[in-house]
Amino acid sequence: MNTDINGLRRISMMRFTFQKSMTATPDFLCLPVFEGKVLPKHCPLTPEVLAQVTAVLARQKFSGKHGEMLPLYTTDPQIVLMGFGKEKEATIHDVAAMGAKTQRFLEGTLAKTVAVFLPSFSVKDDVAASEFAFGMRLWSYNFDKYKTKTKAEDKPKLENVTLVLENAASAETLFQEASFVAEGIFLNRDLLNEPCNILNPKTFAERTKELEKLGVVVTVLEAETLRKMGMNCILAVGEGSKTPPCIVVMEWKGCDKGGKPVAFCGKGVTFDTGGISLKPGSKMDEMKYDMGGAAAVTSLIKTLALAKAKVNVVGVIGLVENMPDGAAYRPGDVLVSYSGQTVEILNTDAEGRVVLSDVLWYTQDTYKPQIMVDLATLTGAIITALGHEFAGLFSNNDVLANQITAAGTMVDEKVWRLPLTAKFDKGIDSKIADVKNLGPGAAGSITAAQFLQRFVGDTPWAHLDIAGMSMFDGGIDHPLSRHSATGYGTRLLYQFVKDTYLAG
Ligand code: BES
Ligand code: ZN
Ligand code: ZN
Repeated sequence: MNTDINGLRRISMMRFTFQKSMTATPDFLCLPVFEGKVLPKHCPLTPEVLAQVTAVLARQKFSGKHGEMLPLYTTDPQIVLMGFGKEKEATIHDVAAMGAKTQRFLEGTLAKTVAVFLPSFSVKDDVAASEFAFGMRLWSYNFDKYKTKTKAEDKPKLENVTLVLENAASAETLFQEASFVAEGIFLNRDLLNEPCNILNPKTFAERTKELEKLGVVVTVLEAETLRKMGMNCILAVGEGSKTPPCIVVMEWKGCDKGGKPVAFCGKGVTFDTGGISLKPGSKMDEMKYDMGGAAAVTSLIKTLALAKAKVNVVGVIGLVENMPDGAAYRPGDVLVSYSGQTVEILNTDAEGRVVLSDVLWYTQDTYKPQIMVDLATLTGAIITALGHEFAGLFSNNDVLANQITAAGTMVDEKVWRLPLTAKFDKGIDSKIADVKNLGPGAAGSITAAQFLQRFVGDTPWAHLDIAGMSMFDGGIDHPLSRHSATGYGTRLLYQFVKDTYLAG
């Protein structure tokens, strides 16, 4: 479970076990408390310690509201009381967030072993234990590979986490699957966090090759191939960079029955300066995260492969760097896309849609997929509209849109659907070419999605604008991540595939 095939990240030594009862005294015992200072029944405490806890609770403001924490250092073992909220209303997402919070707390101590007692409440104990462990695991992720001066006392100490619950065996099974998702999320975050002088189209493609060890068929379409094929759009965006673009195809064939695959496409702009339509300098560094769509797709493939999911999925990502240069593409250029449609470039910073036009057309034309979903950090406008709460969802198919929405709600990676209409579509007609890469003004996320729709043919398709979700900027905390990079999309896509396509 602790193997990281990319070797990118220092591996946390934390081991999770699930037991019906506590067999050894841990350094810390974590106990949920429900709102109104309600301790769960059958807490594994001696009568003396229980009396101490009750006495402290009576004197403290801590009431058991979701998110509260109260450590008691003088009991043996030391105890952390965790506010779980209303006993009949707490959700699995609250539990995962408490897992993350507890991990954060424990990192501030010297604890090596910890036990967590979990009863059944509005969430069944096995689900609660798995979610809690998942939250701890996700918080334990720390991208510190470039820190050379970490002090010994700041290095992770926690080794053993024991979850104590009635349905321990079932929790272990659930956590096994959650661990595959966590590994996917870690790859997603690793790719996002990697600086853009290290992660470029070439090195990103090399990292996808690592998935071959898990049985994924990885094909890299290099720039010369793209040129021969006529993928002039992705090539144009990469013209200003010294690292040429490429398209990576990752095929997970988990179902021998064959049939058409389910396709996922990703925008993989490893750095977006805006090109000749140069972005302002402030926060430009954040554009290293402009490959969040490609990272999400790659991570999904990893999770499916780890889980040996019985489904055929193809992931296609367009990797490119958008740089200003004497050779860079210009506002005013007209490109002949892979689909044959001509594209007038009015702003070289609206490059994501240009890249995806070739990726989407190639994917539907080559694989004739059952459905096609693309993920892209496509527009700043989607952050204005939906903040860091929802990804923007656009689709030409109501059933598909509803399936994705349901999966998002289920795993707390929410999406909100926005409209596509003929009127918006008209807004991207070009005077001199078939389509232009810039809308007439307002509704920027919608006109970007309209542009993509021109390259999907009749395929049932959905587009997720994840600009606000892949990365949380300064000041906004994610419940499960200490870094700006959240790893959004892995869990959503895995849940969607599982609910919709998994063979029994
Ligand atoms: N990568 C950006 C979108 C983005 C902005 C992602 C902020 C994350 C945070 C995209 O390529 C872009 O620059 N879009 C422009 C489009 C405009 C030129 C029509 C934008 O959103 O401003
Ligand atoms: Zn851009
Ligand atoms: Zn971009």
